[in-house]
Amino acid sequence: MPRPQHPLTIQGVSLNSVAEQFGTPVYVYDGDKITSQIKTLQQAFSKVPLKIKYATKALTNVNILKVVKLAGGEVDAVSVQEVRLCLEAGFKAEDIMYTPNGVSLEEIKEVVELGAMINLDNLPVLELFGQTYGHEVPVCIRINPHIMAGGNAKISVGHIASKFGVSIHQLDEILELVKKYNIQVTGLHLHTGSDILDAEVFLKSGNVLFEAALKFPELKFLDFGGGFKVGYKEGDVVTDMMEVGNRVSEAFLKFCEKYGKKLELWLEPGKFVVSEAGSLLVQANVVKKTPQITFVGVNSGLNHLIRPMMYDAYHDVYNLSNPEGEEKKYNVVGYICETDTIAAERDIAEVRMGDFLAIKNAGAYGISMASNYNSRLRPAEVLIWEGKARLIRKREEFEDLLRNQVVLDL
Ligand code: LLP
Repeated sequence: MPRPQHPLTIQGVSLNSVAEQFGTPVYVYDGDKITSQIKTLQQAFSKVPLKIKYATKALTNVNILKVVKLAGGEVDAVSVQEVRLCLEAGFKAEDIMYTPNGVSLEEIKEVVELGAMINLDNLPVLELFGQTYGHEVPVCIRINPHIMAGGNAKISVGHIASKFGVSIHQLDEILELVKKYNIQVTGLHLHTGSDILDAEVFLKSGNVLFEAALKFPELKFLDFGGGFKVGYKEGDVVTDMMEVGNRVSEAFLKFCEKYGKKLELWLEPGKFVVSEAGSLLVQANVVKKTPQITFVGVNSGLNHLIRPMMYDAYHDVYNLSNPEGEEKKYNVVGYICETDTIAAERDIAEVRMGDFLAIKNAGAYGISMASNYNSRLRPAEVLIWEGKARLIRKREEFEDLLRNQVVLDL
Protein backbone atom coordinates (compact mmCIF):
# COMPACT_ATOMS: atom_id res chain seq x y z
CA MET A 1 0.00 0.00 0.00
CA PRO A 2 1.38 3.47 -0.82
CA ARG A 3 2.29 5.51 2.20
CA PRO A 4 -0.45 8.09 2.97
CA GLN A 5 0.41 11.66 2.05
CA HIS A 6 0.93 13.70 5.17
CA PRO A 7 1.44 17.43 5.09
CA LEU A 8 4.85 18.67 6.22
CA THR A 9 3.86 22.27 5.59
CA ILE A 10 0.76 24.45 5.89
CA GLN A 11 0.56 27.37 3.47
CA GLY A 12 4.28 26.94 2.89
CA VAL A 13 5.12 27.05 6.63
CA SER A 14 6.92 23.90 7.73
CA LEU A 15 5.38 22.14 10.72
CA ASN A 16 8.88 21.37 11.99
CA SER A 17 9.60 25.08 12.12
CA VAL A 18 6.36 25.65 14.08
CA ALA A 19 7.43 22.98 16.59
CA GLU A 20 10.89 24.54 16.87
CA GLN A 21 9.73 28.14 17.10
CA PHE A 22 6.82 27.69 19.51
CA GLY A 23 7.85 24.49 21.28
CA THR A 24 5.74 21.38 21.75
CA PRO A 25 3.08 20.35 22.46
CA VAL A 26 1.41 22.88 20.22
CA TYR A 27 -1.88 22.94 18.36
CA VAL A 28 -1.52 24.35 14.87
CA TYR A 29 -4.43 25.39 12.66
CA ASP A 30 -4.70 26.11 8.96
CA GLY A 31 -6.91 29.19 8.52
CA ASP A 32 -7.35 28.49 4.80
CA LYS A 33 -8.76 25.03 5.46
CA ILE A 34 -11.38 26.48 7.82
CA THR A 35 -12.35 29.02 5.17
CA SER A 36 -12.57 26.40 2.43
CA GLN A 37 -14.73 24.08 4.55
CA ILE A 38 -17.21 26.91 5.09
CA LYS A 39 -17.17 27.67 1.36
CA THR A 40 -17.93 23.99 0.63
CA LEU A 41 -21.02 24.19 2.84
CA GLN A 42 -22.10 27.46 1.24
CA GLN A 43 -21.82 25.86 -2.20
CA ALA A 44 -23.62 22.67 -1.20
CA PHE A 45 -26.56 24.66 0.17
CA SER A 46 -26.47 27.50 -2.35
CA LYS A 47 -30.12 26.98 -3.37
CA VAL A 48 -31.51 27.99 0.03
CA PRO A 49 -31.15 30.99 2.33
CA LEU A 50 -28.41 29.48 4.50
CA LYS A 51 -26.87 30.40 7.82
CA ILE A 52 -23.85 28.46 9.02
CA LYS A 53 -23.76 28.57 12.80
CA TYR A 54 -20.31 27.12 13.54
CA ALA A 55 -20.52 25.03 16.75
CA THR A 56 -17.95 26.94 18.76
CA LYS A 57 -17.56 24.20 21.37
CA ALA A 58 -15.35 22.36 18.87
CA LEU A 59 -12.66 25.05 19.05
CA THR A 60 -13.27 28.33 20.80
CA ASN A 61 -10.15 30.39 20.25
CA VAL A 62 -11.34 33.92 19.44
CA ASN A 63 -9.05 34.06 16.40
CA ILE A 64 -10.65 30.93 14.98
CA LEU A 65 -14.04 32.56 15.51
CA LYS A 66 -12.77 35.56 13.57
CA VAL A 67 -11.70 33.29 10.69
CA VAL A 68 -15.22 31.81 10.66
CA LYS A 69 -16.70 35.30 10.60
CA LEU A 70 -14.48 36.41 7.71
CA ALA A 71 -15.65 33.36 5.73
CA GLY A 72 -19.27 34.41 6.22
CA GLY A 73 -20.13 32.03 9.05
CA GLU A 74 -22.09 32.75 12.20
CA VAL A 75 -21.98 30.87 15.51
CA ASP A 76 -23.68 28.45 17.87
CA ALA A 77 -22.75 28.73 21.55
CA VAL A 78 -23.65 26.37 24.38
CA SER A 79 -22.83 28.49 27.40
CA VAL A 80 -22.99 32.15 28.34
CA GLN A 81 -19.20 32.10 28.26
CA GLU A 82 -19.15 30.89 24.67
CA VAL A 83 -21.65 33.63 23.80
CA ARG A 84 -19.30 36.17 25.33
CA LEU A 85 -16.30 34.77 23.42
CA CYS A 86 -18.30 35.15 20.19
CA LEU A 87 -19.09 38.77 21.05
CA GLU A 88 -15.39 39.25 21.77
CA ALA A 89 -14.63 37.91 18.28
CA GLY A 90 -16.86 40.62 16.80
CA PHE A 91 -20.06 38.70 16.09
CA LYS A 92 -23.25 40.68 16.45
CA ALA A 93 -25.48 39.31 19.20
CA GLU A 94 -28.20 38.47 16.70
CA ASP A 95 -25.78 36.24 14.79
CA ILE A 96 -25.27 34.02 17.83
CA MET A 97 -27.47 31.01 18.52
CA TYR A 98 -27.41 29.88 22.16
CA THR A 99 -28.10 26.14 22.47
CA PRO A 100 -27.58 25.19 26.11
CA ASN A 101 -28.53 21.94 27.73
CA GLY A 102 -30.10 21.82 31.16
CA VAL A 103 -29.17 25.34 32.26
CA SER A 104 -31.05 27.53 34.72
CA LEU A 105 -33.38 30.36 33.75
CA GLU A 106 -30.80 32.71 35.34
CA GLU A 107 -28.19 31.89 32.69
CA ILE A 108 -30.79 32.14 29.94
CA LYS A 109 -31.79 35.60 31.19
CA GLU A 110 -28.15 36.68 31.03
CA VAL A 111 -27.99 35.60 27.40
CA VAL A 112 -31.30 37.33 26.61
CA GLU A 113 -29.70 40.51 27.99
CA LEU A 114 -26.70 39.97 25.69
CA GLY A 115 -29.13 39.64 22.77
CA ALA A 116 -28.39 36.16 21.34
CA MET A 117 -31.05 33.84 19.91
CA ILE A 118 -32.23 31.44 22.59
CA ASN A 119 -32.74 27.74 21.83
CA LEU A 120 -34.57 25.85 24.60
CA ASP A 121 -34.51 22.11 25.12
CA ASN A 122 -36.98 21.32 27.88
CA LEU A 123 -40.59 22.01 28.83
CA PRO A 124 -40.14 23.35 32.40
CA VAL A 125 -37.75 26.07 31.27
CA LEU A 126 -39.94 26.82 28.24
CA GLU A 127 -42.76 27.47 30.70
CA LEU A 128 -40.58 29.74 32.87
CA PHE A 129 -39.43 31.51 29.71
CA GLY A 130 -43.04 32.05 28.66
CA GLN A 131 -43.97 33.37 32.11
CA THR A 132 -40.99 35.75 32.03
CA TYR A 133 -41.06 37.06 28.49
CA GLY A 134 -44.44 36.15 26.96
CA HIS A 135 -44.30 37.16 23.30
CA GLU A 136 -41.55 39.70 23.84
CA VAL A 137 -38.41 37.55 23.24
CA PRO A 138 -38.30 35.19 20.25
CA VAL A 139 -37.22 31.65 20.95
CA CYS A 140 -36.22 28.48 19.14
CA ILE A 141 -37.16 25.03 20.43
CA ARG A 142 -34.88 22.02 20.17
CA ILE A 143 -36.85 18.95 19.15
CA ASN A 144 -35.60 15.44 19.77
CA PRO A 145 -36.75 13.56 16.66
CA HIS A 146 -35.84 10.13 18.07
CA ILE A 147 -33.50 9.12 15.31
CA MET A 148 -30.40 7.09 16.05
CA ALA A 149 -27.43 8.69 14.35
CA GLY A 150 -23.76 9.35 14.86
CA GLY A 151 -20.44 7.56 14.96
CA ASN A 152 -20.79 5.98 18.41
CA ALA A 153 -23.14 5.86 21.38
CA LYS A 154 -21.42 8.68 23.26
CA ILE A 155 -22.05 11.15 20.46
CA SER A 156 -25.54 9.98 19.44
CA VAL A 157 -28.01 12.45 20.90
CA GLY A 158 -31.24 12.21 18.89
CA HIS A 159 -32.46 8.86 20.18
CA ILE A 160 -35.33 8.14 22.56
CA ALA A 161 -33.10 7.75 25.64
CA SER A 162 -31.12 10.94 25.05
CA LYS A 163 -31.24 13.88 27.47
CA PHE A 164 -31.28 16.40 24.64
CA GLY A 165 -34.24 18.30 23.22
CA VAL A 166 -37.97 18.07 23.79
CA SER A 167 -39.33 14.76 22.58
CA ILE A 168 -41.32 15.00 19.39
CA HIS A 169 -43.91 12.96 21.29
CA GLN A 170 -44.40 16.00 23.53
CA LEU A 171 -45.30 18.34 20.69
CA ASP A 172 -48.81 18.88 22.09
CA GLU A 173 -47.35 19.98 25.42
CA ILE A 174 -45.08 22.45 23.64
CA LEU A 175 -48.06 23.83 21.75
CA GLU A 176 -50.08 24.21 24.95
CA LEU A 177 -47.32 26.27 26.57
CA VAL A 178 -46.82 28.35 23.44
CA LYS A 179 -50.53 29.14 23.41
CA LYS A 180 -50.82 29.74 27.15
CA TYR A 181 -48.00 32.31 27.29
CA ASN A 182 -48.22 33.52 23.69
CA ILE A 183 -44.55 32.49 23.20
CA GLN A 184 -42.97 33.73 19.99
CA VAL A 185 -41.40 30.63 18.41
CA THR A 186 -39.28 31.73 15.45
CA GLY A 187 -37.20 28.59 15.02
CA LEU A 188 -37.19 24.83 15.44
CA HIS A 189 -33.95 22.94 15.90
CA LEU A 190 -32.54 19.45 16.00
CA HIS A 191 -29.14 17.82 16.24
CA THR A 192 -28.98 14.04 16.19
CA GLY A 193 -25.29 13.29 16.62
CA SER A 194 -21.72 13.63 15.44
CA ASP A 195 -19.84 11.76 12.66
CA ILE A 196 -23.02 11.26 10.61
CA LEU A 197 -22.35 9.86 7.17
CA ASP A 198 -25.70 9.41 5.63
CA ALA A 199 -27.82 12.05 3.88
CA GLU A 200 -30.87 9.96 4.84
CA VAL A 201 -30.42 10.94 8.50
CA PHE A 202 -30.76 14.62 7.66
CA LEU A 203 -33.75 13.93 5.44
CA LYS A 204 -35.47 11.73 8.00
CA SER A 205 -34.94 14.14 10.85
CA GLY A 206 -35.85 17.02 8.53
CA ASN A 207 -39.20 15.41 7.89
CA VAL A 208 -39.88 15.31 11.62
CA LEU A 209 -39.02 19.00 11.79
CA PHE A 210 -41.26 19.83 8.80
CA GLU A 211 -44.24 18.00 10.35
CA ALA A 212 -43.83 19.93 13.59
CA ALA A 213 -43.11 23.25 11.86
CA LEU A 214 -46.59 23.39 10.34
CA LYS A 215 -47.93 24.04 13.85
CA PHE A 216 -45.79 27.16 14.39
CA PRO A 217 -46.94 30.11 12.25
CA GLU A 218 -44.21 32.58 13.25
CA LEU A 219 -41.15 30.58 12.14
CA LYS A 220 -38.18 32.27 10.48
CA PHE A 221 -35.75 29.35 10.36
CA LEU A 222 -35.26 25.63 10.75
CA ASP A 223 -31.94 24.45 12.22
CA PHE A 224 -30.72 21.03 11.10
CA GLY A 225 -27.80 20.90 13.55
CA GLY A 226 -24.32 19.64 12.68
CA GLY A 227 -22.62 16.28 12.78
CA PHE A 228 -21.13 15.91 9.28
CA LYS A 229 -18.45 13.26 9.19
CA VAL A 230 -14.97 14.14 8.06
CA GLY A 231 -12.09 11.84 7.06
CA TYR A 232 -9.72 10.62 9.76
CA LYS A 233 -7.65 8.26 7.70
CA GLU A 234 -6.87 7.37 4.10
CA GLY A 235 -9.87 5.81 2.43
CA ASP A 236 -12.38 6.95 5.09
CA VAL A 237 -15.85 7.51 3.74
CA VAL A 238 -17.01 11.04 4.57
CA THR A 239 -20.30 12.91 4.35
CA ASP A 240 -20.94 13.77 0.74
CA MET A 241 -21.71 17.44 1.29
CA MET A 242 -23.01 18.10 -2.21
CA GLU A 243 -25.43 15.18 -1.90
CA VAL A 244 -26.64 16.24 1.56
CA GLY A 245 -26.86 19.87 0.40
CA ASN A 246 -28.83 19.11 -2.74
CA ARG A 247 -31.24 16.64 -1.19
CA VAL A 248 -31.90 18.58 2.01
CA SER A 249 -32.27 21.87 0.10
CA GLU A 250 -34.77 20.31 -2.29
CA ALA A 251 -36.86 18.91 0.56
CA PHE A 252 -36.58 22.20 2.42
CA LEU A 253 -37.75 24.32 -0.51
CA LYS A 254 -40.69 21.99 -1.05
CA PHE A 255 -41.59 22.38 2.59
CA CYS A 256 -41.33 26.19 2.43
CA GLU A 257 -43.85 26.15 -0.39
CA LYS A 258 -46.23 24.16 1.77
CA TYR A 259 -45.56 26.42 4.76
CA GLY A 260 -46.29 29.44 2.59
CA LYS A 261 -43.15 31.36 3.50
CA LYS A 262 -39.45 31.17 2.64
CA LEU A 263 -37.58 30.21 5.79
CA GLU A 264 -33.86 30.20 6.47
CA LEU A 265 -32.01 26.92 6.79
CA TRP A 266 -29.47 26.87 9.58
CA LEU A 267 -26.62 24.39 10.09
CA GLU A 268 -24.36 23.94 13.10
CA PRO A 269 -21.21 22.14 11.99
CA GLY A 270 -18.28 21.86 14.38
CA LYS A 271 -16.01 19.05 13.18
CA PHE A 272 -16.64 19.76 9.52
CA VAL A 273 -15.30 23.29 9.94
CA VAL A 274 -12.22 22.75 12.11
CA SER A 275 -11.30 19.07 12.55
CA GLU A 276 -9.01 18.65 9.55
CA ALA A 277 -7.60 22.16 9.91
CA GLY A 278 -5.85 21.27 13.16
CA SER A 279 -2.88 19.14 14.18
CA LEU A 280 -1.30 18.60 17.55
CA LEU A 281 2.49 18.65 17.30
CA VAL A 282 4.29 16.66 19.97
CA GLN A 283 7.79 15.38 20.63
CA ALA A 284 8.89 11.79 21.19
CA ASN A 285 10.33 11.72 24.72
CA VAL A 286 11.03 8.02 24.80
CA VAL A 287 11.10 5.11 22.37
CA LYS A 288 10.73 2.03 24.49
CA LYS A 289 10.78 -1.58 23.31
CA THR A 290 9.08 -4.30 25.29
CA PRO A 291 9.06 -7.95 24.23
CA GLN A 292 5.80 -7.28 22.44
CA ILE A 293 5.42 -3.62 21.54
CA THR A 294 7.50 -0.58 20.69
CA PHE A 295 6.07 2.41 22.52
CA VAL A 296 6.64 6.01 21.54
CA GLY A 297 6.04 8.11 24.64
CA VAL A 298 5.23 11.70 23.68
CA ASN A 299 5.06 14.94 25.66
CA SER A 300 1.26 15.03 25.55
CA GLY A 301 -1.63 12.74 26.37
CA LEU A 302 -5.28 12.54 27.32
CA ASN A 303 -4.93 15.91 29.03
CA HIS A 304 -4.47 17.55 25.61
CA LEU A 305 -6.37 15.23 23.27
CA ILE A 306 -8.88 12.96 24.94
CA ARG A 307 -10.69 11.77 21.81
CA PRO A 308 -8.75 8.51 21.28
CA MET A 309 -9.42 7.42 24.86
CA MET A 310 -12.94 8.76 25.22
CA TYR A 311 -14.40 7.73 21.87
CA ASP A 312 -11.80 5.31 20.52
CA ALA A 313 -11.30 7.97 17.87
CA TYR A 314 -8.69 7.34 15.19
CA HIS A 315 -6.11 10.09 14.75
CA ASP A 316 -3.37 9.64 12.20
CA VAL A 317 0.12 10.12 13.63
CA TYR A 318 3.17 10.76 11.48
CA ASN A 319 6.80 11.66 11.88
CA LEU A 320 7.73 15.22 10.90
CA SER A 321 11.43 14.82 11.67
CA ASN A 322 12.08 11.65 9.68
CA PRO A 323 9.33 11.48 7.05
CA GLU A 324 11.31 9.23 4.71
CA GLY A 325 12.37 6.80 7.45
CA GLU A 326 11.54 3.11 7.21
CA GLU A 327 8.07 2.41 8.56
CA LYS A 328 7.83 0.49 11.82
CA LYS A 329 4.97 -0.48 14.09
CA TYR A 330 4.43 1.67 17.16
CA ASN A 331 2.01 2.35 19.94
CA VAL A 332 2.04 6.10 20.47
CA VAL A 333 1.21 6.82 24.10
CA GLY A 334 0.89 9.88 26.30
CA TYR A 335 2.82 10.81 29.43
CA ILE A 336 -0.22 10.74 31.71
CA CYS A 337 -0.40 8.19 34.51
CA GLU A 338 -3.19 6.33 32.81
CA THR A 339 -3.22 4.15 29.74
CA ASP A 340 -3.57 7.03 27.32
CA THR A 341 -2.93 5.37 23.99
CA ILE A 342 -3.09 7.93 21.21
CA ALA A 343 -2.51 5.41 18.40
CA ALA A 344 -2.13 1.63 18.58
CA GLU A 345 -0.22 -0.62 16.18
CA ARG A 346 0.49 2.11 13.64
CA ASP A 347 3.02 2.08 10.84
CA ILE A 348 5.04 5.24 11.30
CA ALA A 349 8.34 6.32 9.72
CA GLU A 350 11.07 5.31 12.18
CA VAL A 351 10.81 7.39 15.35
CA ARG A 352 13.94 8.49 17.18
CA MET A 353 13.89 10.11 20.60
CA GLY A 354 13.41 13.85 20.11
CA ASP A 355 11.53 13.55 16.80
CA PHE A 356 8.50 15.78 16.25
CA LEU A 357 5.26 13.96 15.48
CA ALA A 358 2.00 15.37 14.15
CA ILE A 359 -1.38 14.10 15.32
CA LYS A 360 -4.00 14.84 12.70
CA ASN A 361 -7.65 15.91 12.91
CA ALA A 362 -7.00 17.64 16.18
CA GLY A 363 -8.81 20.88 15.36
CA ALA A 364 -12.19 19.82 16.72
CA TYR A 365 -12.68 18.86 20.36
CA GLY A 366 -8.92 18.94 20.94
CA ILE A 367 -7.89 21.87 23.07
CA SER A 368 -11.53 22.66 23.86
CA MET A 369 -11.65 19.39 25.86
CA ALA A 370 -8.14 19.72 27.31
CA SER A 371 -7.44 19.75 31.03
CA ASN A 372 -4.64 20.12 33.56
CA TYR A 373 -4.77 16.47 34.67
CA ASN A 374 -1.51 15.33 36.25
CA SER A 375 -0.83 19.05 36.74
CA ARG A 376 0.38 19.27 33.18
CA LEU A 377 0.16 22.57 31.35
CA ARG A 378 -2.11 23.16 28.40
CA PRO A 379 -0.37 23.63 25.04
CA ALA A 380 0.09 26.74 22.97
CA GLU A 381 -2.02 27.35 19.84
CA VAL A 382 -0.73 28.68 16.52
CA LEU A 383 -2.75 29.82 13.54
CA ILE A 384 -1.27 29.77 10.06
CA TRP A 385 -2.79 32.82 8.44
CA GLU A 386 -1.75 34.49 5.21
CA GLY A 387 1.31 32.24 5.03
CA LYS A 388 2.58 33.13 8.51
CA ALA A 389 2.60 31.26 11.81
CA ARG A 390 0.95 33.37 14.53
CA LEU A 391 0.71 32.55 18.21
CA ILE A 392 -2.97 32.64 19.27
CA ARG A 393 -2.69 31.15 22.76
CA LYS A 394 0.30 31.17 25.02
CA ARG A 395 1.46 27.92 26.52
CA GLU A 396 0.36 27.71 30.16
CA GLU A 397 2.91 28.24 32.89
CA PHE A 398 3.31 26.75 36.34
CA GLU A 399 1.74 29.87 37.90
CA ASP A 400 -1.50 29.10 36.00
CA LEU A 401 -1.90 25.95 38.10
CA LEU A 402 -1.87 28.02 41.27
CA ARG A 403 -3.83 31.00 39.94
CA ASN A 404 -7.18 30.10 41.50
CA GLN A 405 -5.98 28.00 44.38
CA VAL A 406 -6.52 29.67 47.72
CA VAL A 407 -3.48 28.64 49.75
CA LEU A 408 -4.36 28.48 53.43
CA ASP A 409 -1.88 29.10 56.19
CA LEU A 410 -2.19 25.66 57.77
N1 LLP B 1 -25.02 21.35 17.40
C1 LLP B 1 -25.24 20.84 18.62
C2 LLP B 1 -26.45 21.15 19.34
C3 LLP B 1 -24.29 19.98 19.18
O1 LLP B 1 -24.52 19.44 20.37
C4 LLP B 1 -23.10 19.69 18.46
C5 LLP B 1 -22.07 18.81 19.03
C6 LLP B 1 -22.89 20.27 17.21
C7 LLP B 1 -23.90 21.10 16.70
C8 LLP B 1 -21.66 20.04 16.37
O2 LLP B 1 -21.46 18.71 16.04
P1 LLP B 1 -20.26 18.33 15.04
O3 LLP B 1 -20.56 18.97 13.71
O4 LLP B 1 -19.03 18.89 15.63
O5 LLP B 1 -20.25 16.85 14.99
N2 LLP B 1 -16.62 15.67 21.58
C9 LLP B 1 -17.18 14.77 20.60
C10 LLP B 1 -18.28 15.39 19.81
C11 LLP B 1 -19.37 15.94 20.70
C12 LLP B 1 -20.34 16.73 19.94
C13 LLP B 1 -21.22 17.52 20.86
N3 LLP B 1 -22.19 18.29 20.17
C14 LLP B 1 -16.06 14.28 19.68
O6 LLP B 1 -14.93 14.72 19.84
O7 LLP B 1 -16.31 13.41 18.82
